[in-house]
Amino acid sequence: MKMREIKKNIFKGGAIDWDRRLFDSLIPLPDGTSYNAYLIKGSEKTVLLDSVDPAMTHILLEQLKTVSHLDYIISHHAEQDHSGSIPVLIEKYPGAKVIASEKGKGMLVDHLCIPEDKIIAFKDGETLSLGDRTIKVISTPWVHWPETISTYIPEDEILFSCDFFGSHLATSELYVDDTSQVYEAAKRYYAEIMMPFRTIIKKNLEKLSGYSIKMIAPSHGPVYNEPDFIIDAYKDWISDKVKNLVVIPYVSMHGSTQRMVEYINHSLAEKNIEVRQFNLPVTDLGKLAISLVDAATIIIGTPTVHVGPHPVALNAANLTNALRPKLQFASIIGSYGWNSKMVEKISDMIPNLKVEILEPVLCRGYPREQDFDKLENLARSIETRHKQLNIL
Ligand SMILES: Cc1cc2nc3c(=O)[nH]c(=O)nc-3n(C[C@H](O)[C@H](O)[C@H](O)COP(=O)(O)O)c2cc1C
Repeated sequence: MKMREIKKNIFKGGAIDWDRRLFDSLIPLPDGTSYNAYLIKGSEKTVLLDSVDPAMTHILLEQLKTVSHLDYIISHHAEQDHSGSIPVLIEKYPGAKVIASEKGKGMLVDHLCIPEDKIIAFKDGETLSLGDRTIKVISTPWVHWPETISTYIPEDEILFSCDFFGSHLATSELYVDDTSQVYEAAKRYYAEIMMPFRTIIKKNLEKLSGYSIKMIAPSHGPVYNEPDFIIDAYKDWISDKVKNLVVIPYVSMHGSTQRMVEYINHSLAEKNIEVRQFNLPVTDLGKLAISLVDAATIIIGTPTVHVGPHPVALNAANLTNALRPKLQFASIIGSYGWNSKMVEKISDMIPNLKVEILEPVLCRGYPREQDFDKLENLARSIETRHKQLNIL
C-alpha cells in the first residue's frame, strides 16, 4: 500500500501487520497491528516520523522509493517496532540525521547500534523548522518507555503520539471508522502497556490539554480525526473510578475450584454485581487485562499444586501485580487435598495492588454446604464494599 495523505504534504505510511498474533512474546493480538510511519514534506526539509518493525522494512522502503532525500528521521520511541528499520534508512539516506530525546539517543545506540554522531538529542519543547511547518517535541515519558516523545505540528494541530493513544489493530482504514472496535483495541493496548504508568499518563494528558489537537496520529492503528474519542477514553481509564465489576481469573484441574467459581459468580450476579470469569488455560490474557482496567475486585481461583497455587494462577497474579490496576479488593478461593500455603504465596506476589484482602475461601476436595456458606459470605462482603464505594 502506498503512503496516503492525511494533510497536505503529510503522509501516513508504514506497514499493516495483518498476521501478527502475539506481541512481546506474551500478549495475543486478535486483530493484528500496524507500525505507522509518517512522511512530512516541508517547504525546506523532509522528515520521516518513526519507521517500522524490522520484519517489514521492505514495505517502508517500497513506499519511500520515490523519496530521494530525507533530512531527518524522528524516533519517538526506541523500541524496535518503531525504530527497528532506522539502521537501514540511514544507509539509504546517508545525509539524514536521527532526532530523539536525550534518553532516546542512548537507547537507539544500545538497542539498534545506531552511531551516536548520527543522532541529535532534542529537549522537551524544542522545535524543528521544516520551512512552512514546525515540529515541536513534547516529552511524554512512560508511554511506554522512559524516553518516549510525542511531536506536534502547530500549523496543522496534529499530534504524533507514537504508542500513546495507539491501538493494536490491522485495518486498511486511514481514520477510525468502527469506534467500538478501535475502543476495544485501544483499551487492550492501554491495559497491557500503559496501565502500570497511570499516574504519569495523567501528567502527560494534563500537559497535552494545553494544545489544540485536531488529529492524533499514533504509531499503531488508525488515525483519530476526532481525537476527543480517545482522549476521553484515556481520561476514564486513568481516573480513580472503579466499576461494579468482579474479575475472576481461575484454573481448575478436576472441577473443585471450578464449582466454587461458578457458585460465587452466580451469587454475585444475583446481587447485581457484574462478573467476568476467565478460565486461565484458555484465556486471552489481553481480555483479562482489559477487564482489570475498571474492575473494583479480583478473586483468584486456584487449586493447590505442590503446596502453592497452580503455576497458571501464579502467572496471572504476577501479571496483575505488574499491570497495577486500580483494584480495591482482592480475594483467593480454591481447593486443596491435604495442606496448602497458596493464600500466603499469592498474597506475597501482589504487593503493587493497594487492595483490601477479603477473607479467602479454601476447601478440602470438592466444595460442600459449609464451603458454599463461606463463598456466600465473601459475596456479601464484596456487595457491602461495592455499596460503600457507591458503585452498586
Ligand atoms: C500435581 C498436583 C499437586 C498437588 N499438590 C498438592 C499439595 O501440595 N497440597 C495439597 O493440599 N493438595 C495438592 N494437590 C491436590 C489438589 O489440590 C486437589 O486435588 C484439589 O481438590 C484440586 O482442585 P481442582 O479440582 O480445582 O483442580 C495436588 C494435586 C495435583 C494434581
